[in-house]
Amino acid sequence: MNNSTKTIGSVVDRLMAVRQFSMKIIDPLETEDFVIQTMPDVSPTKWHLAHTTWFFEQFILMPSMPGYRVFHPQFSFLFNSYYNAVGERHPRMHRGVLSRPTVREVLEYRSYVDQALKSFLQQPPSKDVGELIEIGIHHEQQHQELMLTDIKHVLSCNPLRPAYRVNLNEYKANDAVPLNWISFAGGIAEIGAEPGSFHFDNESPRHEVLNRDFELASRLTTNGEYLEFVQSDGYQNPSLWLSEGWDQVQACQWKAPLYWELIDGEWQEFTLGGMRPLDPNAPVTHVSYFEADAFARWSNCRLATEAEWETVGQSESHAHSTTIPGNFAEDDYLHPVAVNSESLNREQTVNGIHQLYGDAWEWTASPYVAYPGYQPAPGAIGEYNGKFMSSQWVLKGGSCATSRMHIRPSYRNFFHPDKRWQFTGFRLAK
Ligand code: AVJ
Ligand code: FE
Repeated sequence: MNNSTKTIGSVVDRLMAVRQFSMKIIDPLETEDFVIQTMPDVSPTKWHLAHTTWFFEQFILMPSMPGYRVFHPQFSFLFNSYYNAVGERHPRMHRGVLSRPTVREVLEYRSYVDQALKSFLQQPPSKDVGELIEIGIHHEQQHQELMLTDIKHVLSCNPLRPAYRVNLNEYKANDAVPLNWISFAGGIAEIGAEPGSFHFDNESPRHEVLNRDFELASRLTTNGEYLEFVQSDGYQNPSLWLSEGWDQVQACQWKAPLYWELIDGEWQEFTLGGMRPLDPNAPVTHVSYFEADAFARWSNCRLATEAEWETVGQSESHAHSTTIPGNFAEDDYLHPVAVNSESLNREQTVNGIHQLYGDAWEWTASPYVAYPGYQPAPGAIGEYNGKFMSSQWVLKGGSCATSRMHIRPSYRNFFHPDKRWQFTGFRLAK
């Protein structure tokens, strides 16, 4: 997993740069924002900051740094997310009732652990510890995306609809490129991570898959296209929905994607930049698997399988993740952006496909299950991904809230099919 050719200096630098990005994410927040939990899926910002710190303390400093003393003996109880092998923990749904430790104390905890990591890493770590640092870096990046989507949910629950940031990049397109169909030949292909560069255990082993001939939409489905589905009573027609999806629509009275609001006859959407008029040319986001699936059925299309997506998404030219094209967190839109006639030339395609990476996670038609020969990592870290392989669906490509360095063709995100608070969208296939 660890690239052993990288110098130790660069690992520490990357680690500290990623730790620093969490601080940049919280910079616009006020103290009161850090504590709220608006639903069980959402964790308070304060909890994310502490949990990512606990991860380094629990899996690296405690077992491997001679003489390390934990910052606080009860923080493992508070900030262990789901590792049974590590012990009991505070229930997830009650993360929002903790006024203590304070934000200030959590930030002290972060500094304490950062200092310990820096002094520990003055000596080159063992191969095993080096791999755990890579996991810790990627873990913090996962929580950075969760911090952004969770704070969006927190702010959306406030009738004032406060913006997280008023100075985000924004792009208003007057049109969207037409949706073209790009054909790909079927046959035996390979998917999964190549050994030798960092990946999570759930991306391996690389293995053969069988695709039939298929076509992918050249871009993501837009708000304008999705609005047609809404306006033609898509949410009132049970024949378009999976049974569980229809139950969900009924139970929660869904009428549109999360964050859409019909105000005086105009559709608006809540963004990290506050309320905005719905941009018909931008990709639709904050839809569940059930909604993506229903829209695809209504369109006489389907969603791509994980194997189809990855067959197209793996291309030599961006094997190293810094070169993956797309709208990621670094681009500072923190919202999906349209591809139109004007932006077309700047847009880099992957095998003729726009927005394969970035903008919105793409729901696939594939259940999140183990690849043949999958082995969870040994020890408590084996609980990271493997035990969630039931009742969830694979999403590919990353979003406008994902760090570019975090994503790769083999990356498998996963959520339950009713979840829609992440930046989730979809691409049609046939
Ligand atoms: C891969 C995004 C589903 O949210 O639990 C964070 C990421 N794993 N800490 C999740 C994760 C461990 C994970 N997802
Ligand atoms: Fe975590």
